[in-house]
Amino acid sequence: MDKLYEGKAKIIYPGPEEGVVRVYFKDDATAFNGQKRAQIAGKGAVNNRISAALFRYLEARGVPTHFVRELSEREMLVKQVQIVPLEVIVRNRTAGTFSRRYGVEEGRVLPEPLLEFSYKNDALGDPLIYGEAAIALGLVTDEELSRIRELALRVNGLLRDYFARRGLELVDFKLEFGRLPDGGLVLADEISPDTMRLWEMKTGEKMDKDRFRRDLGGVEEAYQEVLRRVLEAPASA
Ligand code: TYD
Repeated sequence: MDKLYEGKAKIIYPGPEEGVVRVYFKDDATAFNGQKRAQIAGKGAVNNRISAALFRYLEARGVPTHFVRELSEREMLVKQVQIVPLEVIVRNRTAGTFSRRYGVEEGRVLPEPLLEFSYKNDALGDPLIYGEAAIALGLVTDEELSRIRELALRVNGLLRDYFARRGLELVDFKLEFGRLPDGGLVLADEISPDTMRLWEMKTGEKMDKDRFRRDLGGVEEAYQEVLRRVLEAPASA
């Protein structure tokens, strides 16, 4: 079937009816703006199942998402949206780009969750952008940005709890939002070990894409372990 779009980790196909599209999760992994590429066996299935579980969890707690249902091991059906061209990053501890940019060690607890935005633009290398500039460029309206901030912080609280109950600490993550035809904002894209940093609470082990970025080994195993803990579903999940 004709693709609507192919990204680094997912392919979007037309859906069975108007207003919905099919997302296929690939095993392809990229890092450092696509300079490092490889396949992580089973990653597509893991990310599809984790994203589906998290979208369901968030929806049940009042966060609107694009998720409709799982279609197969590697595919989900989602509402078709217009993606807001911002990467919304929430940080609970210092890590990654933030640590490098400001010269601070990884793992420092931030006094409160920190929101950061990048302008989604491959040609420019997804530069950091501040809210006023995003509004001035017409990437997002003032009202939308307020709503994005509110939703991102709410998602952070919910996901931190969710992973803490599974012995994983949510260090940071990236969200994307989409506009429905009626203008409403929903959480879109994916939420998976590709887009989060998760540290095992007892051992401090990295359980996310940093194992790939930094050649730490055990990449497939870490993704499978996160899926196992997600599916384990404690009573209060
Ligand atoms: P960040 O530290 O900004 O960048 P990097 O991971 O390249 O060092 O990443 C913060 C979190 O957001 C991290 O969990 C990875 C995720 N993220 C993405 O999923 N996609 C992206 O394009 C970026 C920049 C970050």
